[in-house]
Amino acid sequence: MKRLGIGIIGSGGIAQACHMPGYASIPDKCEMLAVADIDPGTAQRAAEKFGVKSVFCDYRELLAMPEIDAVSIATPNAFHLQPALDAFAAGKHVLLEKPMAMNAEECKKIVRAQKASGRLLQIGLNWRFSGAGRFMKQFIENGRMGEIYYARAMALRRRGVPGWGVFIDKEKQGGGPLIDIGVHILDFVLFLMGHPKPVSASAQAYQKMGANPKYWNAWGDYDRSKFTVEDFAVGLIKFENGATVTLESSFMANLEKEIFGCHLFGTESGASLDLFAPDPITIFTENDRQLFDMVPRNIPKVKSMHEDEVVAFVETILSGGESLVPGEQGLVLNAVFDAMYKSAETGREQPIDVTY
Ligand SMILES: NC(=O)c1ccc[n+]([C@@H]2O[C@H](COP(=O)([O-])OP(=O)(O)OC[C@H]3O[C@@H](n4cnc5c(N)ncnc54)[C@H](O)[C@@H]3O)[C@@H](O)[C@H]2O)c1
Repeated sequence: MKRLGIGIIGSGGIAQACHMPGYASIPDKCEMLAVADIDPGTAQRAAEKFGVKSVFCDYRELLAMPEIDAVSIATPNAFHLQPALDAFAAGKHVLLEKPMAMNAEECKKIVRAQKASGRLLQIGLNWRFSGAGRFMKQFIENGRMGEIYYARAMALRRRGVPGWGVFIDKEKQGGGPLIDIGVHILDFVLFLMGHPKPVSASAQAYQKMGANPKYWNAWGDYDRSKFTVEDFAVGLIKFENGATVTLESSFMANLEKEIFGCHLFGTESGASLDLFAPDPITIFTENDRQLFDMVPRNIPKVKSMHEDEVVAFVETILSGGESLVPGEQGLVLNAVFDAMYKSAETGREQPIDVTY
């Protein structure tokens, strides 16, 4: 079988921790041929760590290599659009980190370019590959939850501001915790709910703590004057099928317990998911007029959901299958965030447009 030639665009944190180990774990299916990063030291270090021969500062040189079939794009959010458009123009398949782009307009351009190229696009929404995600999806598809008509999605950190890189810079990120970690949990919930179509959102975003040096940060200190994003956001999203989702996300907030998870309300059962907990799922149901709380104890063990997403990307290209995380679903998330940020600015519920 032909091995895929892989290129890495943006070889910083997530590329070295997740994408490159993922490709390296399947040497029979692919080979990393080149790394590109605007920071030459970062590119060099990543290439040496994984034994990659070609190193570039300009990703367009990587895209010009005919032996490269597919690329990971793991640059900051403001630099997702252009490399993605250029990659499709060069005929490459793309694994694009989350959030798909800065806003829905950019996502639409990427989806159109992908359709025109006929190449595969997978968005880096790795929680779908978690053991909890796999179990819950099956449980729901088996009808055990009934109709899920409401969910609470929560990505709440008490003192978890990522002060490194560009995560607190609105110009380069597009937003704060909503777009950075809210994106993961909203995707997870929509995946479990079967991707209902969102129609409107109302929201509020606050910057109450992140820019103020009086608050301690568990993830190290950072330049508070550079904090230009919200530190907490909350919203209500309505769907065409009548379902609703509330989404809360914070980098910094005075709360009892950090949570990355969701509560699902179905007609047959409910579920509470705390995705970093050892037993992440509790199901609430009724049998014979008795209420039961059930904890599934042997959900699939996944060594690394990040590596599994990379393996899935390569295997989907090789098998010619459909993307497991298509661009249209990445677009939905950005369109929801656009509506939420606009609602926070205007004080009014906003429509969500997912056409492209
Ligand atoms: N899926 C996840 O759990 C997860 C976790 C962390 C980050 N991410 C996403 O991955 C992306 C990168 O985040 P990170 O934490 O790795 O950041 P990072 O700052 O560690 O790495 C980004 C790298 O991109 C390089 N870069 C910037 N502009 C470039 C350009 N035009 N061409 C080539 N290289 C360029 C930078 O020099 C840097 O080395 C972001 O979109 C982020 O949201 C996803």
